[in-house]
Amino acid sequence: MLLRYKKTYEKIAMGLLSYMPGDKSVKKLQELIATYETDENWLLYLWKKEEDLIGLIGLEMGEDEYTLQHISVNPSFRGEGVGKEMVAKVQALFPDKNCLTTETTNAFIKKCTMKEEGAD
Ligand SMILES: CC(C)(COP(=O)(O)OP(=O)(O)OC[C@H]1O[C@@H](n2cnc3c(N)ncnc32)[C@H](O)[C@@H]1OP(=O)(O)O)[C@@H](O)C(=O)NCCC(=O)NCCS
Repeated sequence: MLLRYKKTYEKIAMGLLSYMPGDKSVKKLQELIATYETDENWLLYLWKKEEDLIGLIGLEMGEDEYTLQHISVNPSFRGEGVGKEMVAKVQALFPDKNCLTTETTNAFIKKCTMKEEGAD
């Protein structure tokens, strides 16, 4: 289940963000969380499975599009389709907007939206 970020999720969200490639310093993670908390165009969601928050997906909204800035799943729950499901749920939330990616999120999102059949 996708949940909108709230302050009580701050620690778990920082932990999940730290799995993203790049600068993982506490300062950088705090800056990122602060952006999601204060900038209305930056939306952060967590994925809840039973009682645990095991995934995170963050987007930057534009006029006609949004950019998937962050996506991360707790290593204990990877390879179970959580990442793909989060992407599908976010795309379903904003069906009228184009979904863009960053250099970091591009490969996974491309994989998620690839058709299963007709490999080439
Ligand atoms: C990327 C990530 C969110 C995927 O979450 P997940 O729940 O394991 O994903 P799913 O189970 O839905 O999909 C797994 C599939 O995606 C593939 N995959 C994982 N990371 C990938 C990546 N960076 N690029 C392309 N494909 C990737 C897996 O190889 C697997 O493929 P398979 O189904 O053919 O075996 C997770 O691996 C993660 O948190 N990685 C660390 C954070 C990160 O690097 N984020 C940026 C990359 S988008």
